[in-house]
Amino acid sequence: MAKRTVLDFMRMKRQGEQVAWVTAYDYLMASYAEQAGVDMILVGDSMGMVILGYDSTVPVTMDDCISHCKAVRRGAPNTWIVGDMPFLSYQASDEEAVRNAGRFLKEAQVDCIKLEGGRRVASRIRAITDAGILVMGHIGLTPQSSSQLGGFKARGRDIDSAREVIKDALAVQEAGAYALLIEAVPPQVTQFIAKKLDIPVYSIGAGPCDGQLLICADMLGMYQAFTPKFAKKYANVSSVIVNAFQQYISEVKTGIFPSDEYLYHIKDNEEDFEKLFKEFS
Ligand code: KIV
Repeated sequence: MAKRTVLDFMRMKRQGEQVAWVTAYDYLMASYAEQAGVDMILVGDSMGMVILGYDSTVPVTMDDCISHCKAVRRGAPNTWIVGDMPFLSYQASDEEAVRNAGRFLKEAQVDCIKLEGGRRVASRIRAITDAGILVMGHIGLTPQSSSQLGGFKARGRDIDSAREVIKDALAVQEAGAYALLIEAVPPQVTQFIAKKLDIPVYSIGAGPCDGQLLICADMLGMYQAFTPKFAKKYANVSSVIVNAFQQYISEVKTGIFPSDEYLYHIKDNEEDFEKLFKEFS
């Protein structure tokens, strides 16, 4: 399949064709996602929790993101890649936001960046877009500000909160974003926004719209600390891995592994090797 462009995503929205995308953080996972034919890949700052073992996304650095985006690009050379701007890479000023967004493109060859927030980051979205970089907005539950929001809680469930989410969505489009991701919002609100906006609207835990995102470690059953309500599990990879490690440990300890088929065989005859060993004994 040819690598998608922003025009494909606009066309898919117009034609009602769903976009299916996942997160990936390394070469291997990215290559599996590309083989499977995902429409795009997010190198999310969720790497902080599922790859780096932090208890939030806050400690993730620009260098972490760039390094993982490079690996994902190597694994998925023909897939649209979204680089996720980590906490404090865009909050301080428009200028810093542009410089850091630019690093994703220059150093890791991603196709666009994503940042969290609605009205409060409108000037950042405008500045990055004016620098020629495609921006995807991210509203609703925004994990980088989860402590301000009182934890990883759904948004837009009452009228006041839904109004805020809708205002944020309008502000993101108005600021020049080419797409919007909505997280953990009821489907009624998401569908209203997806119809109202011209840009594609994608969901993670926000119901049907122009496409769906899931975190690979959740959908594959790899991340054991916590699974969000919206994450459907398509596999139980953690138990496959633990079982394989346990079988390996047992075979090493009982001498079953390595058996003959896993050995390199000598090319000269045994007696010559015996003589060689004698030289050193
Ligand atoms: O980092 C990430 O994976 C994300 C999703 C939670 C949307 O931003």
